[in-house]
Amino acid sequence: MEGIDPADVARLREAGLAAFTAAADADALEEARVAHLGRKAPLGALQKGLGALDADARRAAGALLNELRAELTAAHEDRRVALEGAELAARLAAERLDLTGPARRPRPGRPHLLTQVEAEIVDVFAGLGFAVADGPEVEAGRYNFDLLNIPPDHPARGTMDTIYVDEAADVVLRTHTSPVQVRTMLAAPPPLAVVCPGRVYRADAVDATHSPVFTQVEGLLVAQDVTMAHLRGTLLAFARAMFGPDREVRLRPSFFPFTEPSAEVDVSTEDGGWLEVLGAGMVDPAVLTACGIDPDRWSGFAFGIGVERVAMLRHGVRDIRDLFDGDARFLAAF
Ligand code: PHE
Repeated sequence: MEGIDPADVARLREAGLAAFTAAADADALEEARVAHLGRKAPLGALQKGLGALDADARRAAGALLNELRAELTAAHEDRRVALEGAELAARLAAERLDLTGPARRPRPGRPHLLTQVEAEIVDVFAGLGFAVADGPEVEAGRYNFDLLNIPPDHPARGTMDTIYVDEAADVVLRTHTSPVQVRTMLAAPPPLAVVCPGRVYRADAVDATHSPVFTQVEGLLVAQDVTMAHLRGTLLAFARAMFGPDREVRLRPSFFPFTEPSAEVDVSTEDGGWLEVLGAGMVDPAVLTACGIDPDRWSGFAFGIGVERVAMLRHGVRDIRDLFDGDARFLAAF
């Protein structure tokens, strides 16, 4: 053989340069590199064939092919650098942050009004020395009713008010947090002072003042020589902490199965009226006895506060449903 055809070299040059220029991304460029500069590329085959040439022809053809390889290698490198730069520019553009755009104001959350009021009520009693006690919302009828002196034929036991989880097993959704007080008395000897915050359930139809689920903070104090004066003073402290320092309380005779005597407790309003706020009374000796406490040695008072009612009275909420709807405008108001 006497040499290689310069026209072949020119074709390879053109094809290689065109392929590198046309490569639109790194993958296409690599494919072009393998096709035009790889070991199995036509250029490689020509270079391998140099050994069969005469010495002079080999020198001339070798120089030509080396020059072509150098030129294509440089073109590949140029294209690689260009593609890399374009890719970086595209990424920078995509990730650009416009620091001059208007800031989005954070809208921090906050505890729900009911949660706030419940915590405030608990705080008032914690300040008076009451501990906080907790109990299950799914409760045994024995704790919700029997030990609280609510006999089986009492109207509150009917399905009208009570939501039964398992009627045969006498398992209910607690209708008040009084069963937590029962559990407290059964668990430890007096003296005892606890408040029991939590959700309670009753089979009530929903209207502006009724919800089948609502929140209570009930309280119990059992000690020696506890009188109604202690109850009154405790509730007066509560009324003034929650509604204002000039408030008075008024106890009206009432009835609860677990207290004797029992009272509805009113709090005075700024314009000389009275608002019914809660129920209370002296723990019935039968309840103390049922809970293992000797009523000849110990006496106690109990009260039950409806958190929704306190929240509504204090903040002028007219419909209890507003407390449960989750309307963002209502939530943001407190
Ligand atoms: N347990 C009563 C209720 O839920 C409230 C209450 C508690 C009344 C303690 C008197 C004493 O209605």
